[in-house]
Amino acid sequence: MASTIALLCLLAGLLVASPAVADFGVYYQIGFLWPGAYCAQTSRGCCMPATGVVPASDFYISSFTVYNATTNAPLTRCKQDPFDLNEIIEINDLKKYWSNIKCPSNNGQSSWKNAWKTAGVCSGLEEKDFFEAALALRKRFNPLARLTANGATKGIKTVIRKDIGVTPVIQCSKGPFDKFQLYQIYVCATSEEETFIDCPAPPKYNCSSEILFHPFKKWMLKKQQPKSEDASPFELPGIAMDQ
Ligand SMILES: *[C@@H]1O[C@H](CO)[C@@H](O)[C@H](O)[C@H]1NC(C)=O
Ligand SMILES: *[C@@H]1O[C@H](CO)[C@@H](O)[C@H](O)[C@H]1NC(C)=O
Repeated sequence: MASTIALLCLLAGLLVASPAVADFGVYYQIGFLWPGAYCAQTSRGCCMPATGVVPASDFYISSFTVYNATTNAPLTRCKQDPFDLNEIIEINDLKKYWSNIKCPSNNGQSSWKNAWKTAGVCSGLEEKDFFEAALALRKRFNPLARLTANGATKGIKTVIRKDIGVTPVIQCSKGPFDKFQLYQIYVCATSEEETFIDCPAPPKYNCSSEILFHPFKKWMLKKQQPKSEDASPFELPGIAMDQ
């Protein structure tokens, strides 16, 4: 009897975790970049964006892509729908949370334009709604707050699964001392209701079971000449955490 109940619970869990992704024909995948890793791993370092808005001390949206829910193939350049900067330029959260910290400093506009022209036009959303959907998902997913509130050592996937019921995809990069570090987190969402789901065709990345979470401090963002400030990425210890 007890095992029947356990089985039913397990099945119910599966049903809840897999809403009908095929309803609208597409689903979304959103990627979050951890700036501490990016700043540490690139030889040019990272630069303060030239948007006039200081980016958040948080994960940044790095991609928002659209997939065919039947084939799991990424959908790109579905139609010609020109990017209009004016529709989104007033959205301050875009500058705070969809920041481009590549050097030399840039205003992020080419990232947004590229996101719209490749994936946005396949999303079934108007331009402004596409960017606002990404920002709304970020706010709900809120990876940094979840990780810090739950104690990083419990494991990133475990913490997020417990909170929102889906397992994110973790991408590592090579950090200090050639150790794997947390670089990007991906999660998927249905296009309708924007419910989080396990990514149906998760990308596969190579990580160790324990990875570094490299600190991120605003001073790492260089103002101008990447060479003038030589910040050492080793100055602050990273905390070890399970994936
Ligand atoms: C998804 O792929 C299937 C099979 O190729 C196709 O029939 C369908 O139109 C595609 N849907 C979208 C939204 O692209
Ligand atoms: C994955 O990482 C391990 C440990 O560093 C390494 O030995 C292996 O070659 C890597 N595999 C790939 C496909 O990069």
